[in-house]
Amino acid sequence: MRTVPQTVFFTSPFGALSEFCADVASGLTQPGQKELPSKYLYDEVGSALFEAICLLPEYGLSRAGMRLLQRNSDEIVGRLQGEVLVAELGSGTGQKTRWLLEALSRRQRVHYYPIDISRTALTRCQQELGHLDMVSIVGFERAYIEGLNEVAGRRRGSTSLFVLFLGSTIGNFDRPAADQFLARVRSTLQEGDALLLATDLEKPVSQLEVAYDDPAGVTAAFNKNLLARINRELGADFDLRKFDHVARWDSGERRIEMHLRSKCWQHVSIRQAGLRVNLREGETIWTESSHKYQPEEVVQMGMRAGFRCDQQWFDSEWPFAQSLFFAA
Ligand SMILES: C[S@@+](CC[C@H](N)C(=O)[O-])C[C@H]1O[C@@H](n2cnc3c(N)ncnc32)[C@H](O)[C@@H]1O
Repeated sequence: MRTVPQTVFFTSPFGALSEFCADVASGLTQPGQKELPSKYLYDEVGSALFEAICLLPEYGLSRAGMRLLQRNSDEIVGRLQGEVLVAELGSGTGQKTRWLLEALSRRQRVHYYPIDISRTALTRCQQELGHLDMVSIVGFERAYIEGLNEVAGRRRGSTSLFVLFLGSTIGNFDRPAADQFLARVRSTLQEGDALLLATDLEKPVSQLEVAYDDPAGVTAAFNKNLLARINRELGADFDLRKFDHVARWDSGERRIEMHLRSKCWQHVSIRQAGLRVNLREGETIWTESSHKYQPEEVVQMGMRAGFRCDQQWFDSEWPFAQSLFFAA
């Protein structure tokens, strides 16, 4: 088999630092619950810590997604019609995507476009997948929809798009926002384009809590690194020892929430934002949500956005689903 030359094309988002500063300032000064957007968890350190989380015995989610692709990639690819371009939203290292790319490369040259706001993740993705025969990689250091628009612009003739959203990253959106997000994805696609969506399913709370608060403290380090990142990039003076990592199940919303809880009354300066923030003892900063689903709920979510569900695959060890949709 002939190897396709590899290319990587990184585009840094213009004004990313000022957007980070504005988002931090607004999240920490809004009335009520303080919040920081979860997308900022993934700087160089955060992406490396996330890779470590995926190796933890308690975090079964990642291995479940891997097993499903290892077992079912040939069948998934067999359901796609004609030539496809592959775009992956929030690819991370792309480790589990390998199975799909290998299956596709047995029938066509593969153009794979990982889209991720983390440059570190894209670099690791190139290292992980860059050697695959018949696969070329062009990475976009962009937000999801912005990157997807770029990829859609590269479509030629009758080629269709195969969009991957793995790792149950959709769970970071609350349910109405997930609907809106999928509708935006759908509006970028044409009829017949495919979406493979991974979703973590509901399971016992004790299993979920330890998955997001492991005894080795890796998830705690991942969460606290967000404050360390604000210190590094925005000249803030968060003292990480004054915060606890908290992972708690919200049964109404059916999600795990990650928070950083202030151990004492404290004030923090964020030089670049010209801001001083007070935190009460016990007050939390909400950093991430991971929503959990029922299988039929995922089908309905896709349908509301203008997709039809072709097939779902489930992992038997860790309840987890991969759902293949076609744009209707
Ligand atoms: C939970 S990780 C999943 C990584 C990989 N898909 C997996 O299954 O292991 C989420 C990934 O999405 C990226 N990400 C988060 N928010 C993003 C956004 N708004 N636009 C693009 N990428 C984003 C992060 O940098 C991270 O690599």
